[in-house]
Amino acid sequence: MVRPSSVTLKIIMAVSGIVLVLFLFVHMVGNLKIFLGATDFNHYAHWLRSLGTPLLPETWYLWIQRAGLTIALIAHVYAAAVLTRRARAARPVKYAHRPKIQSSYSARTMRWGGVIVLLFAIYHILDLTTGHLNPNGDREHPYTNVVQDFAPDRWYVTLFYTLAIVAVGLHLAHGIFSAARTLGQQTMKGQRRAKHIAIALSLVLVVGYLSVPFAVLTGLVD
Ligand code: HEM
Repeated sequence: MVRPSSVTLKIIMAVSGIVLVLFLFVHMVGNLKIFLGATDFNHYAHWLRSLGTPLLPETWYLWIQRAGLTIALIAHVYAAAVLTRRARAARPVKYAHRPKIQSSYSARTMRWGGVIVLLFAIYHILDLTTGHLNPNGDREHPYTNVVQDFAPDRWYVTLFYTLAIVAVGLHLAHGIFSAARTLGQQTMKGQRRAKHIAIALSLVLVVGYLSVPFAVLTGLVD
C-alpha cells in the first residue's frame, strides 16, 4: 500500500485547490454575462456545451471538464482527510489547557467550511445544471432558471446562496494562502503578500458571485 508523505499530500491539496479556484474564476466571469441580458447569457451557456467542436463531438469538452473537476475535488478531500487523521494520531490525548494559538477565523473553519461548500455544490448542480430543484428547470433557458431561482418571493434561496458563497470566500481566503505557502512562499514577507493576495482574490469572487442573486432580488436583472 502506497503511503504518501504529508508533504506530498499538501502539494496534492494545493494543486487540486488551484484547479478548483481557476474553475471558480471562469465560472464567475460566465455568470456575470447575465448583466448583458438573456440572449448573451443563454448563448454563453449553449456555447459551453459545444466548446471543443468540431475537434471533439458536442458536450465532450464539458464532460472532460466535469471529470477533471471531480478528480480535483476527490484528491482535495482525500488529502485533507488523511492529513487531519495524521494530525489527530500525532496527538491522541487532547490538551487539558489548549494554549490560545493565533489563527484566523477562516483557518479554524476549514473543515466545516469545506463540508458546507461541498453540500452547496451538490444542491447547486441539482438546481441550475440538472434543474431538478429549480422552479423553471429548463436546460434550454438558463437565464430564466437563474431569474426565477432568485425571485424576491424565494428570498430564502438567495439567503442560502449568500451563506454558501461567504463560506466559499472564507475557505479560499485561507486555502489560497496555504497553497502559496506549500508551493514556496516561506519567508515572512512572502507569506504576508500571499495573505493579502488570498484575501483580495476571495473578495473578488464573493462580490462577483453575490452580484447575480442580488441583482435579481432587487429587480436590476429580470
Ligand atoms: C450566485 C452564484 C452562482 C450562480 C448564479 C451560478 C450559476 C450557474 C449556472 C446557471 C449553471 C449551469 C450552467 C449550464 O447551464 O450549463 C451552473 C453550474 C455549475 N456551477 Fe454555478 N453558479 C453560482 C455559484 C457557484 C459556486 C459558488 C460554485 C462552486 C462552489 C459553482 C459551481 C458550479 C458547478 C460545479 C456547475 C456545473 C458545471 C457543469 O455543468 O459541469 N457555482 N452555475
